[in-house]
Amino acid sequence: MKYLIANWKMNSIDIEKWKNEFEDHYKKFKDSIEIIVCPNFIDLSECSEKFINFNIGAQDVSCHSEGSFTGQISAKQLLGASKRLKYCIVGHSEARSKGDNNLIVREKSEQLRNNKIEPILCIGEDKDILSKGKRESFLLEQLNSYFETGLYPRLIAYEPIWAIGTGRAADQKNIIEALEIISNFLESKKLKKIPLLYGGSVSTENIEEIMSLSNLAGCLVGNSSLDGKEFARIAEKF
Ligand code: PGA
Repeated sequence: MKYLIANWKMNSIDIEKWKNEFEDHYKKFKDSIEIIVCPNFIDLSECSEKFINFNIGAQDVSCHSEGSFTGQISAKQLLGASKRLKYCIVGHSEARSKGDNNLIVREKSEQLRNNKIEPILCIGEDKDILSKGKRESFLLEQLNSYFETGLYPRLIAYEPIWAIGTGRAADQKNIIEALEIISNFLESKKLKKIPLLYGGSVSTENIEEIMSLSNLAGCLVGNSSLDGKEFARIAEKF
């Protein structure tokens, strides 16, 4: 099974238009590709109703279950907005940069687990860590912290911060190295295999090269998922 995720972030999407453009350019839904759309909270309900061939994911969740947490949305409330909600992103670098440390990422995942929503765990280093040769220890710290309490993400996305939103995806060598670090970690802990994804400036231009990597199970797409036509082209090349 391959996984293709659209992370719309905080962009305003005309959902009907997006759907029509996607369907005009994506000839046939295939059983071998799971397409997951992650809209903002407000659009969850409409996407759940309209995108019957896709799975639906949220972009974030509160680390609390209920109470005085202004502006936050609980896992239970996510399910209230979308009965078809299957996934939720945790640990995205944009959320980490606003304070989501490894502990919060874990607490959010616990909330998801309690509500049977599957976490999509994002990990990835910044340019400074990469250039200092500290990527492996950094990724292992993120992984160790996540798995130490018995949590299990459904998918793991390697998302190097230095590639996200830049228009320049990581090269094959860097992706292969990072996937190896993650696979070796899972193996050393005797954990069962988890599909590994890549995210960071994936586009119609580079999708074939990226997906040619043998142990890559899919991609998480930001900017290039905002246009239904472009995202359909990526899906076609999967
Ligand atoms: P991008 O975003 O495709 O725009 O680089 C990816 C992501 O942040 O998940």
